[in-house]
Amino acid sequence: MTDPVILAHGGAGAPNEDSDGPQHAADVAFRTLIDGQIDSALRAVVEAAVILENDERFNAGTGANCRLDGSIEMDAIVATSDGRIGSIAGIQRVRNPIRVARLVMDSPHVLLCGDGATQFAHHRGVPDDIPMTDRAAKRLATALERLKSGDVRPTEQKWRGRDMHGTIGAVARAHDGTFAVSCSTGGTSMMLPGRVGDSPIFGAGTMCGEHGAICATGDGEEIIRRLCSMRVYLRMAEGMHPQEACEIEVAAFPKPYTLGLIAVSHDAHGMAATDDKMARGMRD
Ligand code: GLY
Repeated sequence: MTDPVILAHGGAGAPNEDSDGPQHAADVAFRTLIDGQIDSALRAVVEAAVILENDERFNAGTGANCRLDGSIEMDAIVATSDGRIGSIAGIQRVRNPIRVARLVMDSPHVLLCGDGATQFAHHRGVPDDIPMTDRAAKRLATALERLKSGDVRPTEQKWRGRDMHGTIGAVARAHDGTFAVSCSTGGTSMMLPGRVGDSPIFGAGTMCGEHGAICATGDGEEIIRRLCSMRVYLRMAEGMHPQEACEIEVAAFPKPYTLGLIAVSHDAHGMAATDDKMARGMRD
């Protein structure tokens, strides 16, 4: 038996003052984590993610960013240490993508994308709903201004310093020593339609196995290139403390991109972010 713990974040770059959001999510989900029922780690990380998706300060679900064409496409994943994975990419017209990822986990597949993911969600009874907010519309206007100004070009260069990322996520360890991770995002602040970030890619935005669970946030393209969550996991598997494993990964992340990480192992946990900027919470 181990001590249960849950960590949640509201995205790299999300102001630390917004940590009341992930802290609330961790506090509520902790009750599920210790309820003594089956799959408590899995149910707790889904619950934490739903709470954060419903908080429009964060770029996921209700607060998701728009693509440059004004559409909203979202990515999400949930995974457990016994090898179950449910993932979706580029889903539209749902308010809680994490619930769809959880449904995919029980389907024959690991990852559904685009229209197929949206159809799957509605077919399985997830309400048809467009999660558009004033905040997302303002962010889109800012992104379009940057394109118009010539500061960035639409398809030909890396978009450095886009800032305003955001992703939400949670990692948990249950009494029985099992782990789970959830992650959900509206992407970044400037994106082409069809772009998929790190979040739904197992090993990149998340990792979960017998040695622990990791959730990443930040510049998705760079996180995919480096497989950040997998690298943290492999260090933990060698016995490194999760705090040190996260800090090494953040320090090695190429500038000016940003990275945030939360991680839990059998007997410890850790959190780190570029410039220490990441709304976060923890409950044990
Ligand atoms: N880390 C979220 C994204 O880049 O989509």
